[in-house]
Amino acid sequence: MTRILEVSALEGGYDKVQILYGIDMYVDEGEFVTIIGPNGCGKSTLIKTIFGLATYYTGQVKFNGSEISGFRTDKLVNMGIAYVPQVDNVFPSLSILDNLQMGGNGLSKTILDERIERALGMFPDLKDRTHDLAASLSGGERQMLAISRALISDPKFLLLDEPTAALSPLYQQQIIERIDSLRDQGITVLIVEQNARLSLARSDRGYIVSNGKIVHTGDANEILTDPEIGEYFLGSTGH
Ligand SMILES: Nc1ncnc2c1ncn2[C@@H]1O[C@H](COP(=O)(O)OP(=O)(O)OP(=O)(O)O)[C@@H](O)[C@H]1O
Ligand SMILES: [Mg+2]
Repeated sequence: MTRILEVSALEGGYDKVQILYGIDMYVDEGEFVTIIGPNGCGKSTLIKTIFGLATYYTGQVKFNGSEISGFRTDKLVNMGIAYVPQVDNVFPSLSILDNLQMGGNGLSKTILDERIERALGMFPDLKDRTHDLAASLSGGERQMLAISRALISDPKFLLLDEPTAALSPLYQQQIIERIDSLRDQGITVLIVEQNARLSLARSDRGYIVSNGKIVHTGDANEILTDPEIGEYFLGSTGH
């Protein structure tokens, strides 16, 4: 099993504001791994630090065994990592097609068209609407577009930040299922999710972040069935 991501003793934040303290985690190739934790605990900062969008201080981040700590985002994209941000992840005033094309900077037209075709194949809801503005999409469709755009760079490893936030339960389910099915295309998934139960149900493993630290890790099932974790981190609704 290839260790696609290995993070050790990672510290990071925003300029001089430290948010992350000694993060140790890993993701193996083919896995679906969920990060959960309360609002403001540093989940987004963690994946942004890995992806070169927050300030890396110390520690080590390895991708497929190679050191990538503090690497720039464009370099990470070229290496096969993609990221879907928590907010503002599509350009509403551009068409669906334009949004997708923006995910393929520097690709030849032939390859770009192929990649767009493939992404739309995974998200057929968008297929007949490529000339509509992204602003006309529902919340769930926007997330599909944001994920499709991330796929245009042909990533091996996809980081997603709360892709089901603010969606109806039906869309939440659908989006998580689609993300899970990306594994069939050889894409490894690391996801931050507020809808912890939903995401953990599809996951191999999970990490719980609190106050910028990993406070628990384990198999997804173990996390889902731990009564204490349920009370503090999964919400009581059972959804
Ligand atoms: N650009 C920034 N500059 C300074 N501090 C920031 C910045 N962005 C976020 N923070 C702070 O970093 C801390 C962690 O934020 P982060 O967004 O990582 O939390 P989160 O776990 O993703 O929360 P949520 O569940 O609400 O998305 C918070 O205290 C937040 O206010
Ligand atoms: Mg966040």
